[in-house]
Amino acid sequence: MRAAVLHELNKPMTIEELELRSPGRREVLVKMVASGVCHTDVSISEGTLFMMQKPPLPIILGHEGAGVVEEIGEDITEVAVGDHVVLSGLGCGRCRYCAIAMPMLCLNQFQRGPINYTNKGQNVFHFAQATFSEYSVVPINSCIKIRQDAPLDKVCLIGCGVTTGVLSAINTAKVRPGSTCLVIGCGGVGLNVVQGCAIAGARMIIAADILDNKLEMAKTFGATHTINSKSGDLVAQVKALTDGFGVDYSFEVIARGPTIEMAFESLAPNGLCTVVGAAPPGTIVHINTDLLFYERALRGVFLGSPRPAYDTPMLVDMYMAGKLKLDELVSQNLSIDGINQAFADMKGGKVARTVIKYV
Ligand code: APR
Ligand code: ZN
Ligand code: ZN
Repeated sequence: MRAAVLHELNKPMTIEELELRSPGRREVLVKMVASGVCHTDVSISEGTLFMMQKPPLPIILGHEGAGVVEEIGEDITEVAVGDHVVLSGLGCGRCRYCAIAMPMLCLNQFQRGPINYTNKGQNVFHFAQATFSEYSVVPINSCIKIRQDAPLDKVCLIGCGVTTGVLSAINTAKVRPGSTCLVIGCGGVGLNVVQGCAIAGARMIIAADILDNKLEMAKTFGATHTINSKSGDLVAQVKALTDGFGVDYSFEVIARGPTIEMAFESLAPNGLCTVVGAAPPGTIVHINTDLLFYERALRGVFLGSPRPAYDTPMLVDMYMAGKLKLDELVSQNLSIDGINQAFADMKGGKVARTVIKYV
């Protein structure tokens, strides 16, 4: 089987023939059908992801996949061979955070399991579900069964970007109908925050980015207003659009200190600023406490507070019912041989999402 292997940070991946071990107890072998390319994969390859600055190398990346169950290990009742799955779950199911339905905070998720891949006897490490690979062995908790009629090359995006974006609005911030929202950064995740605010019934959704092509896409996903933040003071423009108040909910979806500060400063009294972007380690933001006094809040988010066994099939159903846009997110399809091109296109701001297709 073939996979994209990163040997050195900031260098292209190489496509290699590897050996993959069989699934063990509570593990599943998945034949990958499609995988989105998320900015987090790019960040790991550059050594800038919080908690993953020095990934073990060589490593297989990719964590936004969908596929078909090829083989199950011992003690699996949740899925059967032939089932369609989105790889989006996490959590051990036992720790204090899993116990309160917050599996994204699982205390056991960063423990590295046994080595899955080898290349002529040499270990090859993997990140998350290693979806830049034709096959992957994943823990059953990472494997969410979905309906058979959903196209895997679209619903793979629910594995990360759509879940993170849409659920940051719905689950984490709990955007209320009729509210006003600001989304700074309209990449693959930010467009889904815009979409989440629209699904939640916000009356005003202001999308901000530095690229006009992203702002055009944001309109498709429900933005009522767009601001190119190169065009001047973003906070002042948001205040001007909201009778001087600011917005009820703001979201930063880039991962930069200055834009996090702008998102916070754009809030109306009682507003909530949610930081979706995973900023480089040690990023410091400056907050004016006068603003906090009027009950504004700043909070972080990890993957949109998902409960995958519930939320993943829900999002698939919403797509199939025409209530969630996925097709519009796919800017291009490439084979695994195009993985370096996909990374370059994301860095160049050309695409919302590239979807790698295996079959
Ligand atoms: N002001 C406004 N927009 C900006 C700025 C800026 N100063 N800098 C970059 N952007 C825009 C880019 O033009 C792009 O549209 O932010 C967007 C980032 O999108 P992507 O590169 O597609 O990244 P995405 O996959 O959406 O992830 C964004 O969320 O989950 C996290 O780790 C992820 O930190 C990453 C962030
Ligand atoms: Zn846990
Ligand atoms: Zn991701």
